[in-house]
Amino acid sequence: MNASAFLVTGGTGSLGRLVAGGLRDAGHDVRVLSRSGRPGTVRGDLSSGEGLDEALDSINAIVHCASNPRDARRTDVEGTGRILRAAKRSEVSHFVYVSIVGVDRNPLAYYRAKLDAESAVKRSAVPWTILRATQFHGFVFGMLEALNRVPLLVPVPKGFLFQPVDAGEVASRLVELSLSEPVGRVGDMGGPEIRTAASLARAYLKATGRRKGVLKVPLPGKTARAAREGAQVTRVAPGSVLGEATWEEFLGRTTDPKHR
Ligand SMILES: NC(=O)c1ccc[n+]([C@@H]2O[C@H](COP(=O)([O-])OP(=O)(O)OC[C@H]3O[C@@H](n4cnc5c(N)ncnc54)[C@H](OP(=O)(O)O)[C@@H]3O)[C@@H](O)[C@H]2O)c1
Repeated sequence: MNASAFLVTGGTGSLGRLVAGGLRDAGHDVRVLSRSGRPGTVRGDLSSGEGLDEALDSINAIVHCASNPRDARRTDVEGTGRILRAAKRSEVSHFVYVSIVGVDRNPLAYYRAKLDAESAVKRSAVPWTILRATQFHGFVFGMLEALNRVPLLVPVPKGFLFQPVDAGEVASRLVELSLSEPVGRVGDMGGPEIRTAASLARAYLKATGRRKGVLKVPLPGKTARAAREGAQVTRVAPGSVLGEATWEEFLGRTTDPKHR
């Protein structure tokens, strides 16, 4: 591999595979870390540290997209620490980390883990860049598909605000950042519109041709209050980036039989 060789962790996942593709399209050597070791990947596990030093041999920069919300302490927090130490040993010159908008405003356990992972990146001796992004269209779609299993009505949390973004646009931003000098935390990235969960659900039902109503369910607790107050949406701040693809465009692509 040459000097601009990249390791993409989570490169088998929905975001990471797009990052790996973008870097390859730009002419770079890309190695994908995966627990599976399936063809086209190198085997490695953040939760145990197995395979990390080997995966980083001759690697110049890392785009760290791997995550496991069900085991976030071990994978996201401790695992990020493990790969940072391995990166230091391998003299990696740039560590790019993708986090989530509002991890410091919403007390959800997974978000706390992402915030702690950000802190590990900031403390590390490896030069770094952090991008926080809002929920991807595909994630919101998956959530609505699960809620749609309820008969007659789709229940959604009342007043929750989302700003779904195209994962491809986030991947392009990560590629751009990983090909530049490390700059620390950059402006957050979100989609073009801030919408309530009910508005996203109504558009989903229309696009999927389902004749069901939306039931707005008031939820108690700090996490729900944070979501109603817009913890997950980007603030207008210098350097923040808005994606262009709308929820309706994503739904059009996803429900079009030609794209299935
Ligand atoms: N989804 C969203 O809406 C959203 C929004 C903003 C930010 N983000 C962030 O973007 C990143 C990617 O999210 P995603 O939705 O694309 O994730 P995803 O599709 O669930 O993929 C997760 C990836 O993590 C890898 N992974 C999990 N545990 C691992 C371990 N112990 N060792 C090594 N690799 C491991 C998996 O690889 P193998 O299974 O092949 O091992 C997989 O490629 C995450 O950091 C997430 O927090 C996501």
